[in-house]
Amino acid sequence: MTTTTGWIAARGSALHGEVIVPGDKSVSHRAIMLGAIAEGVTRIEGFLEGEDTRATAAIFRQLGVRIEAPSDGVRIVHGVGLHGLRASQDPLGCGNAGTAMRLLTGLLAGQAFDSTLVGDVSLSQRPMRRVIDPLAALGAHIDSNDGRAPLRIRGGQLLLGSNIDLTVASAQLKSAVLLAGLYADGETRVTEPHPTRDYTERMLKAFGVPCEFAPGIATVRGGGTLRGTEVHVPADFSSAAFFLVAATLVPGSDLLLRQVGMNPRRTGLLHVLRLMGANIVEEAASVQGGEPVCDLRIRHAQLHGIEVPVEHVPDMIDEFPILFVAAACAQGATTVRGAAELRVKESDRIAVMATGLRSLGIRIDETPDGASIHGGNLQGSTLHEGGGVIESHGDHRIAMAFAVAAQVADGEVPIGDVANVATSFPGFDALARTAGFGLRDAWTADPALRRG
Ligand code: S3P
Repeated sequence: MTTTTGWIAARGSALHGEVIVPGDKSVSHRAIMLGAIAEGVTRIEGFLEGEDTRATAAIFRQLGVRIEAPSDGVRIVHGVGLHGLRASQDPLGCGNAGTAMRLLTGLLAGQAFDSTLVGDVSLSQRPMRRVIDPLAALGAHIDSNDGRAPLRIRGGQLLLGSNIDLTVASAQLKSAVLLAGLYADGETRVTEPHPTRDYTERMLKAFGVPCEFAPGIATVRGGGTLRGTEVHVPADFSSAAFFLVAATLVPGSDLLLRQVGMNPRRTGLLHVLRLMGANIVEEAASVQGGEPVCDLRIRHAQLHGIEVPVEHVPDMIDEFPILFVAAACAQGATTVRGAAELRVKESDRIAVMATGLRSLGIRIDETPDGASIHGGNLQGSTLHEGGGVIESHGDHRIAMAFAVAAQVADGEVPIGDVANVATSFPGFDALARTAGFGLRDAWTADPALRRG
């Protein structure tokens, strides 16, 4: 049997037309979770049909929640109320999804029954102590494999609301604590070292829970009732980011991205690209389901290197792979600091991007919390001495970032291990081709994928 294991990416044409990217991953996860523990029905429109978010829906089905999928991008969640979930005898599989695992750890810590969360190889290596410790401070009991999944969450614990000061700026941790706080006695207040995306807070409010929040701080009280509602999921800015950079880099491009989610805690890349000289215009701004959205028109522009302002780092935490590609094509050097979190994402994104860009002929100096990327000419890895297959290490955003890099490289760029693109952006390759990308599937037997 031949399986698609990679892509061969190369220059295509200038990017034109309109692109609609799939729904936001963070919002889709949360809509299923809150819908499941609400009273009544929640209708989700624009749900991301990705492996990560489908894993979350499958887990809640295992926990006794009826979730209908009448059509692509639509879910109808029949909520069972705060205390209506049922134990699953089998482990709950989060796949590659860190968001599912960390948020569910908080939510399950408040249940009357025990649960076990498992993940794929990558997720089983990611740090979980950072979520276990703050939850333990509320009274949760969670066993791990030396700080990693599988996580065994003991039910029937008495949770007590408290003040939790997080040491890592992470929306996943904040959200886990807030979800556990729904089951705690009294008030739970989370303080972050730097504000992160606030979807859990906004959505709790939309479900009728009095959650108070301001940048960097959020408070919930235990024992309330969530009421089923309608959730409109905006297009995912993190998926749009690949097209933002591609259209900026490829000469002659003029691309319209439709109705992209513009939550200010997500759009750090936009600010940084503009500082680098990008030409991106916001059009048709509106508010959809409580979230700002707009069309983004991107025209080709020559970028120049900058020092990425540290305050933007949490607001673009998923966009560094593609920023590194933009930086590799800029005039001069771009320096990133304060981004050590990148080392514990789906892969070590600093190391993996550095290896890949070097094999395209780019000079890059790694530091523990970032890198300096020296802009230059990208050579297809098949042309560059020492080049070969770019390994994405099963990391969706690495694979897509190198597909973009190939659009301005001389020669082909074979990219291996791309199946996980389906976790966040199913159909990326087809959509990218429609916009003008040069990108074709490669199979195990393809000689190009065996080079290097
Ligand atoms: C997410 C938060 C971020 C982000 C992830 C989604 C969320 O992770 O990288 O893709 O939905 O809360 P951290 O909270 O670990 O930074």
